[in-house]
Amino acid sequence: MQLTLSSPLDMHLHLRDGKMLEIVAPLSAKEFAGALVMPNLVPPVTSKEMVQSYKERILQVCKDDRFTPYMSLFFLPEYDYEFLQELKDTILAIKLYPAGITTNSEGGVDNFSLEALAPTLEAMNELGIPLCVHGETNGFVMDREAEFIPIYERIAKRFPELKIIMEHITTKEAVDALMRFENLYATITLHHLHITLDDVAGGLLRPHLFCKPIAKRPEDRMALRKVAFMAHEKVMFGSDSAPHPRDKKEAPGCAAGIFTAPVALSALAQIFEEAGVLENLQKFVSDNAQKIYNITPPKKEVRLVKEPFEVPASYADVVPMFAGQELKWRVESVL
Ligand code: NCD
Ligand code: ZN
Repeated sequence: MQLTLSSPLDMHLHLRDGKMLEIVAPLSAKEFAGALVMPNLVPPVTSKEMVQSYKERILQVCKDDRFTPYMSLFFLPEYDYEFLQELKDTILAIKLYPAGITTNSEGGVDNFSLEALAPTLEAMNELGIPLCVHGETNGFVMDREAEFIPIYERIAKRFPELKIIMEHITTKEAVDALMRFENLYATITLHHLHITLDDVAGGLLRPHLFCKPIAKRPEDRMALRKVAFMAHEKVMFGSDSAPHPRDKKEAPGCAAGIFTAPVALSALAQIFEEAGVLENLQKFVSDNAQKIYNITPPKKEVRLVKEPFEVPASYADVVPMFAGQELKWRVESVL
């Protein structure tokens, strides 16, 4: 059995910088035609110069692969129209992080009143720049995403023309909210389709499955699977592949993030096939994102075959999801 995916896209990807960038970026560039690159570097990406030079560093390590890094800017509430107009053609979206909620988000937003967010949101609305949101409060860890939904609703109502992407949704409440507003869209990760909190902490603690937002309950996973497996036009694949060196994961204070980029297409083929919906994977990993973001990625045909793929124990010192395990599909060629 085989499957060809045209121009797969990963609409939420952490590529980091420096040595880590060199390790991970070529792995995404090989199998994906493009990715939305997250801006949570240290310091965060907050200017046109920073976006441009980060994009150059990415392209440099990806060498001659046909791969478009779609760039994002780190949301600050005080951007204005002129500033964003200058940047509009350099970025695809602006990413909003609540302050301190996840890796490298200390400079994020701590006041979610519409008045506080207005300067940037009004300019984005006028310029047609999509807003990507890490939607979690600082409440109890299992309730953070559901508690954030009123904030999504407030922004969606106030700016009905603004495209808002609920990043890496994990709960049935988020799926319900997504359906209530025309201007809400969502990314869904591989890991949240695959695991629940039980896989992270139900037996021996699995640091390489620890991420934000934390994996939730079986009924939440079911709600995500429902919309992903039917490739609902409001959802698209965003891996949230978030590499950390082994010593930051296998540590008393484990960094949040799961490294999935090099296993994503194989694992997605496997779980879509198991669900009997392999024919919907193309929409989930590319077509929906092209429509939502109005982008045309480079042409790339990725051929997968149903043959065992032995997932490496690590890529340099980064441990991927499914490390040392066997997946049922492998990428055979990329044309
Ligand atoms: C991400 C990271 O490490 O940058 N971590 C994660 O657990 N997903 C940040 C994020 O997207 O939350
Ligand atoms: Zn992320």
